[in-house]
Amino acid sequence: MSELVFDGVSVRYGNRRKGLTAVDRVSLTVPAGKTVGLVGESGSGKSTLARAAVGLSPVSAGRVLLNGTDVRRLPRRPRPLQMVFQDPYSSLNPRMSIGGSIAEVMHLDGRAGAAARRAEVVRLLELVNLGPDCADVLPGRLSGGQRQRVALARALAGRPQVVIADEITSALDVSVQGAVLNLVRDLQRRLNLSMLFISHNLAVVRYVSDIVAVMYLGRIVEVGPVEQVLADPQHPYTRDLLDAAPTRHSRLTSGGTTEVADTEPADPHRPPPGCGYHPRCPVGPLVRADRDVCATTDPSHGAEGRLHAVACHFGRPEHRHETG
Ligand SMILES: Nc1ncnc2c1ncn2[C@@H]1O[C@H](COP(=O)(O)OP(=O)(O)OP(=O)(O)O)[C@@H](O)[C@H]1O
Ligand SMILES: [Mg+2]
Repeated sequence: MSELVFDGVSVRYGNRRKGLTAVDRVSLTVPAGKTVGLVGESGSGKSTLARAAVGLSPVSAGRVLLNGTDVRRLPRRPRPLQMVFQDPYSSLNPRMSIGGSIAEVMHLDGRAGAAARRAEVVRLLELVNLGPDCADVLPGRLSGGQRQRVALARALAGRPQVVIADEITSALDVSVQGAVLNLVRDLQRRLNLSMLFISHNLAVVRYVSDIVAVMYLGRIVEVGPVEQVLADPQHPYTRDLLDAAPTRHSRLTSGGTTEVADTEPADPHRPPPGCGYHPRCPVGPLVRADRDVCATTDPSHGAEGRLHAVACHFGRPEHRHETG
């Protein structure tokens, strides 16, 4: 089991004069064998943060550590960290058989023969509830849900310790999203994976996660045990997300998207000073003239070690002094 740690990670796109900080000094831990759900509206930096862990975004400050080792120093094979993306169509070579695509990333003894390779492909297909016949077909013959299962099998082929899943059910038909989610949850438990699970859908995050982290404008604004955060959100942005999500439970596969509708999203090229959420915040200086601290002072929590942490000047006092 492995622990993934983002330690003060920043990612900047563009150059000094014209650029944007998509991820701003984020510290977040994915504990060994646990799932951390990452939510936040479009453009908040979720994918950029995830991609930083696998070397796909330009980290300008901080480090990503797997069991204490900087991920930049990890071996390329086997890859202890694997990422699964939203689009199961683009992640598979259309001209390569499913078995071939999976075998490509398998980590077997160099002397392993064709039969051993075949057996491993079949084992991986079985893990994702696909039959052995799938190995011989091209991706074009499979449905979206089946392809996403193959993408999972391919990620597991490298025997990873950590899996990062970025909106992996968002592009799927509603009718198969639930089955893929069940599979992900089952695999995480059976293989004791540590997982970073990104979704727009709070119901989905609640279903698969132990911990939830809420991202806004490149920062984590609240993090804590999923049931606690959803039952008793401390950050006004988290509360707005929850209000925007449908209230009826078990809306796993429809709606539940995390967009706060009635105010303009912030421009990441020109982030507001102080708390990034203050120009939209329903309890900030917009409505309370005495709360100008929100517009001047960064509320970064300094909450290391706290179980339920919030980056808000007016998060409830009992939580601001709680120790993890
Ligand atoms: N390669 C890139 N070059 C320049 N800017 C980028 C690049 N990738 C992302 N961005 C910008 O970084 C910010 C964060 O984007 P990111 O894709 O990480 O958000 P997200 O939270 O994953 O959004 P979504 O929910 O839509 O997937 C956005 O403002 C985006 O436009
Ligand atoms: Mg994204």
